[in-house]
Amino acid sequence: MHTSNSLIRLSAALCLAAGTAKAYTLTDTFDKSNFFQDFNFFTAADPTTGFVKYVGAAAANTSGLAGYSNNAVYLGVDHTTMNPTGGRESVRVTSNKAYTHGLFVADLAHAPDSECGVWPAFWTVGPNWPASGEIDIMEGISDSVTNSATLHTSSGCTMQSTGALASSKLNDGNCSSDTGCGMSTNDTSNYGTGFNAAGGGVYAMEWTSQAIKVFFFPRAAGIPSDITSGSPNPTSWSSPIAAFSGSGCNIDQHFMNHNLIFDTTFCGQWAGKVWSQNTKCSALAPTCDAYVAANPAKFASSYWLINSVKVYQASAAKRGVAFEA
Ligand SMILES: *[C@@H]1O[C@H](CO)[C@@H](O)[C@H](O)[C@H]1NC(C)=O
Ligand SMILES: *[C@@H]1O[C@H](CO)[C@@H](O)[C@H](O)[C@H]1NC(C)=O
Ligand SMILES: *[C@@H]1O[C@H](CO)[C@@H](O)[C@H](O)[C@H]1NC(C)=O
Repeated sequence: MHTSNSLIRLSAALCLAAGTAKAYTLTDTFDKSNFFQDFNFFTAADPTTGFVKYVGAAAANTSGLAGYSNNAVYLGVDHTTMNPTGGRESVRVTSNKAYTHGLFVADLAHAPDSECGVWPAFWTVGPNWPASGEIDIMEGISDSVTNSATLHTSSGCTMQSTGALASSKLNDGNCSSDTGCGMSTNDTSNYGTGFNAAGGGVYAMEWTSQAIKVFFFPRAAGIPSDITSGSPNPTSWSSPIAAFSGSGCNIDQHFMNHNLIFDTTFCGQWAGKVWSQNTKCSALAPTCDAYVAANPAKFASSYWLINSVKVYQASAAKRGVAFEA
């Protein structure tokens, strides 16, 4: 009797705690069973003016630039053609579905290595850029060894960093500046060659009216069990590598209807623009385009291997579940 009473009290306390937590419900899974039905190939000229030629689904399949491999989704680049005209072939894929708010969990086995000239990104963006905003979850250029997480908006959105890892740094809070509001991070397992050496990992982006946060979990150090079990609870996780919030930005006015994108471009408005400032890369060739054109084999590891991308939406807080059974 006594024991049973304490158990009931304990359950009531747990129920109260669960009632205040935001619960997330899975709405979409993109993986080897459906990825290319739910993402389409972008084949227009690269908006960031890269030395790249984005190919369509059929061509990517034929030439092996995109497909299913090792039970994952493979997105690669041409790494055999010397001096390709008009840019090196690559793929850029966009989800058919668009989202406002949510928890986006990407389990990645591999991402492009840190290599001069390459510019990979996993990001989200809405229509009429920059009016609906852009969230760069995982992005870097050339020999970068750490991730940069960045937001881009129209004018009137200034972010603060609250709650991110102390080693992450907000470089500029002004999200409508040329470079956006970005956070540099300080963990070499979260990007490029270091990411791959650690067996990849899980990126999670949580987007609410209050904040946009980017979490990273290297596979080698262990993925939280609530992620692997499919009941993610960000409040239980370690600090995000980037967190944007504050009264200087009405998130719901600046971010809406985002599609998910994976791409790998070369040079262009970032990797190309800063080529001459990178002593290691600029010693290899006078321009980024020249290096990328003449060194196909360097890009054999410029591929994404996506185990899954899962999208969760906040559901009504769970109440009384422990008592229902
Ligand atoms: C590529 O083409 C092959 C042969 O038609 C097909 O079996 C495969 O599903 C295609 N791969 C993708 C990713 O569409
Ligand atoms: C943000 O950057 C834009 C573009 O450079 C500039 O016009 C605007 O004044 C900046 N806003 C703030 C608050 O500094
Ligand atoms: C990471 O931390 C080290 C040591 O404190 C520092 O030298 C380095 O500049 C930091 N890197 C980044 C990307 O902030």
